[in-house]
Amino acid sequence: MKILDGKITAEQIKKEIKVEVSQYIDDGNRPPHLTTVLVGNNPASKTYVRNKEKNSKLVGFTSSTYNLPEDVSEKKLLDVINFLNNDKDVDGFIVQLPLPTHIDEQKIINSIDPDKDVDGFHPVNVGKMVLGLDTYLPATPSGIIELLKRNNIETTGKHAVVIGRSNIVGTPLSILLSRKSKFGNCTVTICHSYTPNIKDFAVQADILVAAIGKPAFVTADMVKDGAIVIDVGINSIPDETKKSGFRSVGDVDYDEVSKKASWITPVPGGVGPMTIASLLMNTLKAYKKRFNLF
Ligand code: GUN
Repeated sequence: MKILDGKITAEQIKKEIKVEVSQYIDDGNRPPHLTTVLVGNNPASKTYVRNKEKNSKLVGFTSSTYNLPEDVSEKKLLDVINFLNNDKDVDGFIVQLPLPTHIDEQKIINSIDPDKDVDGFHPVNVGKMVLGLDTYLPATPSGIIELLKRNNIETTGKHAVVIGRSNIVGTPLSILLSRKSKFGNCTVTICHSYTPNIKDFAVQADILVAAIGKPAFVTADMVKDGAIVIDVGINSIPDETKKSGFRSVGDVDYDEVSKKASWITPVPGGVGPMTIASLLMNTLKAYKKRFNLF
């Protein structure tokens, strides 16, 4: 079993971004700028946003965050987005999801300028992704593809089984894995809450992706010998030995599944850092488009 180390791979990508950014700055350009909009106090969202800010600075971007209260009106959030759409100092921005239930998430996503939508969630960008056109790919799925690519893991002709069909991970990843490209060309099965006997599909997977948000959902009996296992889950479970009282675990029973897998992503240190690296890549792309730096 080999560890598919997202931390090391993401560090390499960030190094490359940093070199490129410092060149642009040496040439007299301003640094790229990423803005994050955070609504409310969801602890997981706050952690993600803090990480995005920290990593933006590490690669030489500037960053900013709008912290809006849990009870902010939809109108006020739309006003903030409208402002960011028109702010020449902002190359890309994201609205951290999930949003409180009184806000229509899709309406918010639809209001983001597709050119600044570095999450790749706007319908225009999702449509481009489906068609294989140049666009911002959603960060988690493109981070997973990049992780496979940079570790020279062959995907062509393999059977990928994706457990979970969210708009953020499962659905776009299934499309990227099935695309006609060197790090696609898979036969893809998507399993979801209405799939009877997920195990029957999972055991057939050459590449098994768990993206359902249930701790240790994928057990060793669901995994074929030699499978490549990608764990997208970040679940917080009680752990008295930790200062915080919690620890992060994935959707995969790592200790047992790692005995059967050929490659496996750890949690933390697998998909998570790759998601952030992809967001930075998208932001750099938005910046280069704005200043014609290709
Ligand atoms: N919540 C969980 N993942 C993501 C993501 O990639 N982008 C945004 N905006 N919110 C998220």
